[in-house]
Amino acid sequence: MKKICIVFQTILVLGVFFSSCNLSYKAQKDDNVDVEDELVYCHEQIKRSLQMIKKDSCLLPRSINTLSDQWNMIDVYDWTSGFWPGILWYDYENTRDEVIKHEAERYTNCLIELLNPKHRGDHDLGFQFFCSFVNAYRITENPYYKQIALAGADKLASFFNPKVGTILSWAHIDKSMGWPHNTIMDNMMNLDLLFWAAKNGGNPDYYRIAESHARVTMENQFRPDYTNYHVAIYDTIDGSFIKGVTNQGYNNESCWSRGQAWAIYGFTMVYRETRNKEYLRFVEKLTEAYLKRLSDDYVPYWDFDAPSVPERPKDVSAAAVCASALLELSFLEDNQSLAAHYWTVAERTLASLSSEKYKCGNQKPAFLLHATGNLPAGYEIDASINYADYYYIEALYRYKKMKGLQLAKKN
Ligand code: GLY
Repeated sequence: MKKICIVFQTILVLGVFFSSCNLSYKAQKDDNVDVEDELVYCHEQIKRSLQMIKKDSCLLPRSINTLSDQWNMIDVYDWTSGFWPGILWYDYENTRDEVIKHEAERYTNCLIELLNPKHRGDHDLGFQFFCSFVNAYRITENPYYKQIALAGADKLASFFNPKVGTILSWAHIDKSMGWPHNTIMDNMMNLDLLFWAAKNGGNPDYYRIAESHARVTMENQFRPDYTNYHVAIYDTIDGSFIKGVTNQGYNNESCWSRGQAWAIYGFTMVYRETRNKEYLRFVEKLTEAYLKRLSDDYVPYWDFDAPSVPERPKDVSAAAVCASALLELSFLEDNQSLAAHYWTVAERTLASLSSEKYKCGNQKPAFLLHATGNLPAGYEIDASINYADYYYIEALYRYKKMKGLQLAKKN
């Protein structure tokens, strides 16, 4: 606790200093996000969405196209199916509104179908079970949710390839794409489910699997400038790294901004779980590479290296993922000036996302505008997307709790 307090004291002092560094951000009326107002906004948008979507169905809202105000709905097999229940859990945690809890429980239970052996699944089981069942268990402490989340972790761990040392991310395209064992950067996020399972009554070996995945990814999937390849291809016979390519970025050598945000969030989590300083030093480098390329309103273009003509869409999801990660990293950091820097960047990112430019307001029932899902494949470009909203509400709630700690220290 003492260490946390020292870090936060320093954050307050150095926040001012860092405000003039690196990025020429035009401050909003106040860089201290009015977190209560923003969480009320999220709650109101959720209630609007619940009114609009079909009741008693297991279809879940995924995205809203640029010119629409209607949710595109998906079934539980979609990779994003955990985010809507996760949004509801965060909102319930903040408001204690029993109507929201009821909906969170109902949508969470829909995802049990993912355990059906007829559904093969892939690395996205991590997003799906962590955002829904692990949040449900964390908030309610109901052992039923824990039991289902542990079964989800078993299914995710079954994709681990000991020869390579990582999880096979996309089992469905291993042969068709000539990608015998592929590991995508997004997969870093899903180690959270394995670390959680290892310390919550699941197979303790999942800690080793998660750590192995992180280490092999760290050693192979980054360029010398600490940007990453979206997809790493490995040899299934000898386990060696063959090449790095992209699926959702501009090209194989470009830095897809959400991929970099997934890496920052993922390696922050790996440091949280292992306390191995090698990962902390590594995530500092990843963050530096991201911040060096960032636009002056803290919301990146969809790919840092995409040409500016025609106009590049932005991606609020990368910004929201990164803001949430940097709040946690500021808490874990042993270098106090960096801790202050990360806190300031996260705060400014949230202030920017909470401005008129990025919020849906009355236009649409989602939280945020201007997310980009998969530009090369031509969908969800400059849209509202559930995972942008999930990491936005997670970051707001983290910020609120951490601010509370700061205030408790001052009083
Ligand atoms: N995990 C897929 C994506 O980030 O678009």
